[in-house]
Amino acid sequence: MIIIGATSGIGASLAQQAIRKGYIVAGTGRRKERLISMKEELGENFCFRQMDVTDFQDSTEKLHSLIDEMGGMDIIVLNAGIANAPASSIVSMEQAIVDVNVKGFVQLFGEAFQYFRKTGKGHIVGISSIAGLFGSARNAPYAASKAYISTFMQAYRNRCYTSNIDITITDCKPGFVESEMTEGKKGMFWVADTEKAVKQMLIDIEKRKAYSYVTRRWRLIAWLIKLTPNWLLERV
Ligand SMILES: NC(=O)c1ccc[n+]([C@@H]2O[C@H](COP(=O)([O-])OP(=O)(O)OC[C@H]3O[C@@H](n4cnc5c(N)ncnc54)[C@H](OP(=O)(O)O)[C@@H]3O)[C@@H](O)[C@H]2O)c1
Repeated sequence: MIIIGATSGIGASLAQQAIRKGYIVAGTGRRKERLISMKEELGENFCFRQMDVTDFQDSTEKLHSLIDEMGGMDIIVLNAGIANAPASSIVSMEQAIVDVNVKGFVQLFGEAFQYFRKTGKGHIVGISSIAGLFGSARNAPYAASKAYISTFMQAYRNRCYTSNIDITITDCKPGFVESEMTEGKKGMFWVADTEKAVKQMLIDIEKRKAYSYVTRRWRLIAWLIKLTPNWLLERV
């Protein structure tokens, strides 16, 4: 299993839990010191590359070098994401979110898809969000970036189905989960323990589900959002 964005929060917990279950795991992230300490903790079944997903050439080369080191790839989890970024203006902050959550995602999704087409089968997991289900006033680029990747994955899933391609695509939509991203944020509810949310996510990955809501109760919120008319959603 290759986890893009494994240095903290959901990705780090997924790496730990997958190793405990016997997977060979590769993790990536920009923070090299975190990757080194994960290697010390997780041992020989963990390998890593320092990677910034906004550097497309470098991230592509590193993905392929991890695949070589692992002797192949069965599952890739595209987890890297940001909800905020230091920037000199609102516009550049919003561009930075799109660069990571959309452009970085599309690049590695495409590379993984081509790889799995060559090997004949595989599994791509993308971490979107309940936030992608509507345009929240709190964070427009974040909500829109998650909507983009959800629709993108749905379209690829349809393509696999209609063209008989044996690639599973799982769209994981977490609600609020404890992590560096949510640390200190106000106005959250049902904030899940990271370990618990990731445990459920890994079960859904192993079941090769098309959609995974973590924790489970967020499926109800997703359902309510879909049923709520826009005029009402826009007032919430
Ligand atoms: N926590 C929640 O409530 C929640 C809810 C819904 C969806 N999600 C999604 O879940 C995913 C994981 O988030 P988290 O909550 O676990 O937050 P987190 O602890 O901040 O983890 C984000 C991960 O993405 C990596 N990353 C960020 N920018 C990157 C870049 N330019 N290149 C490579 N890696 C990069 C980070 O690694 P480095 O900083 O080392 O690069 C880190 O490993 C995100 O996609 C997020 O949108 C989270």
